[in-house]
Formats: sequence, C-alpha cells, structure tokens
Amino acid sequence: MQNLNEDTITQAVIAQLAHTPDPRLKQLLISVVQHLHSFARDVELTEDELMAGIRILTQVGHTCCEKRQEFILLSDTLGLSTLTMAMNNRKPAGCTEATVFGPFHVENAPRYALGTDIANGAKGEPCFVSGVIRGLDGEALPHARIEVWQADADGYYDVQYAELDQARARAVLLADANGQYFFRSIVAEPYPIPHDGPVGDMLRATGRHPWRPAHLHFMIKKDGYETLITHVFRSGGKYLDSDAVFGVRSSLIADWIRHEPGPAPDASVMTTPFYTLEYDFVLNPTTAAH
Ligand code: BEZ
Ligand code: FE
Repeated sequence: MQNLNEDTITQAVIAQLAHTPDPRLKQLLISVVQHLHSFARDVELTEDELMAGIRILTQVGHTCCEKRQEFILLSDTLGLSTLTMAMNNRKPAGCTEATVFGPFHVENAPRYALGTDIANGAKGEPCFVSGVIRGLDGEALPHARIEVWQADADGYYDVQYAELDQARARAVLLADANGQYFFRSIVAEPYPIPHDGPVGDMLRATGRHPWRPAHLHFMIKKDGYETLITHVFRSGGKYLDSDAVFGVRSSLIADWIRHEPGPAPDASVMTTPFYTLEYDFVLNPTTAAH
C-alpha cells in the first residue's frame, strides 16, 4: 500500500475495513468513507476547507456540556435527524406521525397524577391539555405512559437554566383506564434553538433563522405498541413553514383555544385568560405491517 493517489485512495481505505468483524459497523464505515471521499472529489475540497471543517466539528464538541448538545443541533439543522426519524418511523395511515426528538428531553422527569399543573412555576399563560391515547384499531390504551416537555414563555426549557435544579413544564403521566390524559401547563410559544455556538454561525452564514414554531413534545409508551416520539404544533403561529429543524408535519398541527377568565376544565375558576388543547394520539401496534 504505497504511492496512493486520488484515484486509488478510496479503495485502499475500504480494503483496510474488509475484516471488520461486526458486519453493520463494516457497512457503516465503508459507506461513510465512500461518501466522504465522493464529497471531497465533488467539491474539489481544499486543504484550508478541510481544516475549517475540522475546526467547526471541534467547536461543536467543545460547545457540548451537560446542558447543551450541539451535535444534535447540527444533525437537526442539517435535516439528518428528520431523515433518520422518517426512515425509522414508517407507520400505517391513521397512526400519529413522529417527529424529531430534539436535545431537551431528560431522563427521570417527575411523575405526576393526571390533572397536575406540570408548569411548576414555568412562565407562561395557563393551558389545559387533554386527549385520548388509542391503538390503530381505535382501542383505548389504558395507563399508557405519557412524557411531555416544553419551553417556557421566554423560549427556554428548564434544563437551559444554569441555576434551576428542578423540572418545569416537564412530566411523566399515566393515562387513565380509558386511555384519557389531562394536565395543566403553559401555552407553547415559538422559540429559537440555541444559536450562540457553531450551529448558530452556520445558520447565519446561510441566511437561515434559528426559530421553531410553537410546540409541545410528547413521548408515549405502551407495551405492544411502538413508542411514539412527536410534537403537537400550535396552529396559526409563525415558523410552521420554516422550522429551523424541519420537524413540522401538518397532521400534528392543532388549535390552542383561548378562553376568557372563568371556569376551567379542571373545575377551577381562572382569573386570567387561559387556553385549552385537545389532541388524541394513535399508536402503531408492534405487529402492524409497515
Ligand atoms: C426542540 O424542539 O426541543 C428542539 C429540536 C431540535 C433542535 C433544538 C430544539
Ligand atoms: Fe422543543
């Protein structure tokens, strides 16, 4: 293996991968090498550009910490997350569509009883959310596990506050025996993804904005059904057609209905305006054909 040149280098590298014992790892590495080399040939990559790319990826890594995952942002803003999500969530018609996971989910969110105000002090106008979790044949899914998380009125998730050590606008709930769920939270508002790092630089360099349309994140689990990771998007808001991370599906857009002060769905009497959102989810049985 000497005297490699621009015509022979790709095959030489691939030959070195031929004995990778794990067949999937072998396939992934060979494909990555082929595509990276094709990219370099396609654009006639300069040495300065290669170093600039390496610097950017280094910066992406340095920007990651316990509260920030810049690599997920990079994947999301390049559409790789949506592509991967779409290929891995082919569902029959009638199922609720999936969308991107995003970087703000955390393990061990607090478990609350149905009806709880999950905002836990997060800033925003009150909102009562309810619906039913069903399977593809319309069967209610009793005690389905519902995880929900959202940004506050200032556009931040609880995990983005350096000093905050408790969950806000984030919860795990179990549907009741009829698959119904209901909780109180705050209204979803549009917010910008973190854009003070290398991903923000990329967005600015390409004339893109960092905003996401208003949404609520859900992850719903039930034995015998595929886990559903999705959002519900707020109708009528900005950025539905220019989501910075390409996550909007029209089937996931719903109305947040505004109400004047008065009786609320949880039987309390609200002294300020409030909103309601009703959204039902349909999960795909694990046996369903794709
Ligand atoms: C989110 O909706 O939480 C999100 C998704 C992708 C990138 C940044 C944020
Ligand atoms: Fe979000």
